[in-house]
Amino acid sequence: LNILHVTPEASPFVKSGGLGDVVGSLPRALRRQGHDVRCVLPEYDQIPLKYRSRLEHLLHFRTRVVWREEYTGVNRTVQGGVPVYFIDNKEKFNRGTLYDSPDRHVQFTFFIRAVLEMLPKIDFQPDIIHCHDWQTAILPLLLEENYSSFDFYSDIKTVFTIHNLRYQGTFGPGIIDDTLGVDWDHWHSGRIRHDGMVNFMKAGIEYADKITTVSPGYAREIQTSEYGEGLDYALRMNSDDLEGIVNGISYQEFDPAEDEEIYSTYDRHNFQGKRKNRRRLKSEMGLAGENDRPLLGMVSRLVDQKGIELLEGIGSEIVDLGFQFVVLGSGRGRYENHLQLLAEKYPDMVAAAIKYDFTLARRIYAGSDFFLMPSQFEPCGLGQMISMRYGTVPVVRETGGLKDTVKPYDEEGGTGITFSEYSPKALLTALEKAAELGHDREELEKLQKRVMKKDFSWNNSAASYDELYRSLEG
Ligand code: GLC
Repeated sequence: LNILHVTPEASPFVKSGGLGDVVGSLPRALRRQGHDVRCVLPEYDQIPLKYRSRLEHLLHFRTRVVWREEYTGVNRTVQGGVPVYFIDNKEKFNRGTLYDSPDRHVQFTFFIRAVLEMLPKIDFQPDIIHCHDWQTAILPLLLEENYSSFDFYSDIKTVFTIHNLRYQGTFGPGIIDDTLGVDWDHWHSGRIRHDGMVNFMKAGIEYADKITTVSPGYAREIQTSEYGEGLDYALRMNSDDLEGIVNGISYQEFDPAEDEEIYSTYDRHNFQGKRKNRRRLKSEMGLAGENDRPLLGMVSRLVDQKGIELLEGIGSEIVDLGFQFVVLGSGRGRYENHLQLLAEKYPDMVAAAIKYDFTLARRIYAGSDFFLMPSQFEPCGLGQMISMRYGTVPVVRETGGLKDTVKPYDEEGGTGITFSEYSPKALLTALEKAAELGHDREELEKLQKRVMKKDFSWNNSAASYDELYRSLEG
């Protein structure tokens, strides 16, 4: 099949979260299944020059957004065997922010129209267009409204993947006439409307042929009012078209036996390397004391979703349990401050790096004994899978993809420590279990080696997408 992924971000070019990693690696796995898979994304100025400078200019034309005609450049490269197209318009995408411009509805409406206009010009007729998150969620609507009467487009089917339901793209109804340029029927019927606003996410849910999300657990959760972010009713109404497929991670990119970013490579049979990583990481982060003291790691965007607030009351208890704690991330000021204060209070025991740092992230995955993800909600989560790949035991809250990918270690096939209630107390109980394990080095290493045997490569998930695409064929 011909498959086009339309995405607001893709690794290694530009990424703000897990979506970028997924779209950076899933297409490659799908190509191995024999499909002609390609990607398209905006050409932001955030994309490092080393990538932008080797793009090949294919063509340019003008895209109409209601009454405005916008310059549209199409540039291309091939990444890991996957052709990747970039929609170029400096005024639209050189903004210093990816998704927070006040006119983001215009940016992404332009992007979607440009992508649809581009297809006949580059002579690529997709069987499936696969969209990701709110930024691309209006593609199925615009395809149906303005393009599907043309032969070239009439057989295209759409898939919409929700990586995070919290971010929906909501705008006043004025954008129907001045940006979207679609019939008001779509508003009156309620299909693009939620709470008196135009809601891009809802449009994706209503107009796509299939909706997926990134774990079966999250697919169930978002149909409830607790996790539905207000749209659970729309998801329940479309539940026949909704499926959860758990993400994979790239086993080439994340490989402790080959990773050049970490201090020392290792595998299950040569575990010395992991201990060495722990020692070097501790000294790089200024943590003191004997190497055997269990190290708890965390790499996370510091946003509400990630459950950082649970840590706020129990920092001292974590230290009292005998852990050393290293955390890397940035986000909300309140959480950044809290973690920095904790590190100042316990300089030998806690280290906080408030930034985004690709190399340090790898070193934390490799050097830690335990990896913490106490998320409030988690559509899939990649950190727990990466940590397991590096033989680091995940400590997670039982929600969404975390629950689907981490079973308690004392159960058959279990690889982690889990807790259910969203409270500091429940988290602390989980950490007590971890501490107990952490002080029995032999047991811990046995578990860590077992954790490394788990397979979270794309193989299984790509097969599920393959099946989904085929089910859409006429
Ligand atoms: C979002 C979700 C995360 C998921 C990722 C990739 O970042 O918050 O849980 O793993 O998308 O699908």
